[in-house]
Amino acid sequence: MSGKKFEQEQHTSPPWRGPRGGFPVVMKGPEYNPTRRDFLRTLSAGAGFVWLSPWRVSWASPTADAGTLRLLYYTDLHTRVEWDTPLALDMAAAKMNEQGAELAIAGGDLITDGFQSSSETVAPRWNAYMKMHRSLRADVHPMIGNHDLVAADPDDGTPPSENPRREFLDHFALDRTYRSFDAQGYHFIFLDPIEVLRRPQRYRGYIDDEQLAWLKEDLAEVNPDTPIILGTHIPLLTNFTQATEGATIANPFHRVVENNREVLDVFRAHNLLLVLQGHVHVDELIRWRGTTFITGGAICGRWWRGEWHGTNEGFGMVTLQPGRIDWEYIEYGWTARRPAHL
Ligand SMILES: [Fe+2]
Repeated sequence: MSGKKFEQEQHTSPPWRGPRGGFPVVMKGPEYNPTRRDFLRTLSAGAGFVWLSPWRVSWASPTADAGTLRLLYYTDLHTRVEWDTPLALDMAAAKMNEQGAELAIAGGDLITDGFQSSSETVAPRWNAYMKMHRSLRADVHPMIGNHDLVAADPDDGTPPSENPRREFLDHFALDRTYRSFDAQGYHFIFLDPIEVLRRPQRYRGYIDDEQLAWLKEDLAEVNPDTPIILGTHIPLLTNFTQATEGATIANPFHRVVENNREVLDVFRAHNLLLVLQGHVHVDELIRWRGTTFITGGAICGRWWRGEWHGTNEGFGMVTLQPGRIDWEYIEYGWTARRPAHL
């Protein structure tokens, strides 16, 4: 499988060209005060009175004892150095810094195509990503995506890396890709959902026994009422495949975590408030058994080609406060410069 095909394997269906907007719940009440510019954009797009941007939704949550936290969630940058994309990262960072977040979570796929590339090839990508990472004012906690493994299965025939996660760990001075921490009364858990396989599969979404054992140990120390925010690059739940390919089409093994029920069962006795996901590059919300699953769009949109199934290049803001959560998907205004033939 060529590198190009590998990168594209998540979007084999033709892009949907319907009205913009990644998820169907739009608040127009007291929580949403569109500016005159939003209004004019709506009219100029010929879309009638459907608000285009920003997309914002709020809901009640069982977090009475937790604090207020402005949380930035950006994912799927696919950092590279072609097509002026470092300029896009500068624009995204500037927009993110306007939000006044106290904490930031990076959802993975920070660089592009590390999995099948050599360390030398991806060095400029890491440099470009780290420049943006360091420019963010919020404290950034990164999770790993499949593209962030380096030389897991090199296309150039060189031997695979003994530890394809090493560069990710070194860049962020981490000991482990799956881990947890606490902030403002919330317990954050990040999973590493990538299992490296031989060709032709290369990888699948899976949480192995070692990680599940760690997760159970971690949760044993967490009060059942403590609100938990779980991060996983590859989704535990998404409607992406059914929405884009058909209601009876199953997810491929690399699009979702295969043992998702086993993972979610571990949280049965806990207050799993939010699951932050990436990988499919769309802005999507799912509510299931009191947990909200957010798939957070993508900084790179359609892999730097523009809009993807109604989601433009952007990032999310989560505002956590006692008893309530707000989610907003914020576009940062990039116009794709990737040539059409690439
Ligand atoms: Fe991605």
